[in-house]
Amino acid sequence: MQIESGVSLKPYNTFGLPAVAGTLVRVASDADVRRVVDHPQLGRAPKFVLGGGSNIILTRDMPQVVIKVEVRGMRLVQERADAWIVEAGAGENWHEFVAYTLAQGWPGLENLALIPGTVGAGPVQNIGAYGVELQDRFESLDAVDLVTGRTVTLHADICAFGYRDSVFKQALAGRTVITRVRFKLPKPWQPVLGYLDLERKMLESGIGAPSAQQVYDWVCAIRRAKLPDPKLIGNAGSFFKNPVVTPEQCRDIIGRDPEVVHYPMPDGSIKLAAGWMIDACGWKGKSVGRAGVYDRQALVLVNRGGAIGSEVMLLAGAIQESVYGRFGIRLEPEPLVV
Ligand code: EPU
Repeated sequence: MQIESGVSLKPYNTFGLPAVAGTLVRVASDADVRRVVDHPQLGRAPKFVLGGGSNIILTRDMPQVVIKVEVRGMRLVQERADAWIVEAGAGENWHEFVAYTLAQGWPGLENLALIPGTVGAGPVQNIGAYGVELQDRFESLDAVDLVTGRTVTLHADICAFGYRDSVFKQALAGRTVITRVRFKLPKPWQPVLGYLDLERKMLESGIGAPSAQQVYDWVCAIRRAKLPDPKLIGNAGSFFKNPVVTPEQCRDIIGRDPEVVHYPMPDGSIKLAAGWMIDACGWKGKSVGRAGVYDRQALVLVNRGGAIGSEVMLLAGAIQESVYGRFGIRLEPEPLVV
């Protein structure tokens, strides 16, 4: 365990926002987390768990003890007749883990390629893209309880996964440090190709039965074309969740604009494309101060250089107001705002 004081968090959040952690502790194992829990001062202090910093908007310095998770390791736990069970340390980079599983011949995560952040942050917001969510490949995870210091193994029933949501954002927020995550990659592998962008790639290429590597390449190409690389342009992925509404609400919105992009969900509700609505309000490419709306995907807010958290939130507020004014829908931020 490594304890540091007055640490700049700018390099540790993909939006590149300035903020200082009074105390930052790097943990590389469950035992390290227990040392924090048992520590005479750190033990009692409020804590904040930081993963890859790809889903966070920092608007102020952090008075809490910031725990930076650096647990490493990737391995096959078990090969079963119906699946490969693969485990990764919470501090591993998500995309590198996806690439590793494919290279080892354990496909199943290819639709989730290039999502920024760490493995440990994946279950917190149930990351998802191109028709697959983390919960579809989830086996279990280990987490250390920040009150008792004990390691617990949690399965899907406890994790309460939802759309960009889980128990770690709700009842267990600030209570646990996820240290390892296990995935179940089903055998035989079957591609998930239902998403419109992937269907387009299939048509363009004429490849009807793509390999996992081919799907991975397509997902990477689609993401690179639409989403800014956080190494080059600060951002936190989608800034708002796609709102889920009832069929009645959807009819009202279609009445306001018949072209609104919407998808029926299996439970009868309807998901609206927030990016489309923001775009329809004319926000694409616009800026407020040094924060802006990405010019190729209106759902992504970006740092145009030197932005601070309050500028980003000012821009977010202005977008929320215009979408509400035009469609009667209140957009909810996707990243955690602190
Ligand atoms: N659209 C526009 N203008 C825009 C942006 C989108 O018209 O500026 C339209 C698109 O043409 C499309 C629809 O809106 O018809 C949806 O857009 P897209 O397919 O790009 O997906 P999204 O709903 O904007 C979601 C996730 C992404 C994920 C993609 C692919 C959320 C909040 N976002 O975006 O996740 O990569 O689907 O599955 O659910 C993230 O969470 O950070 C993220 C990037």
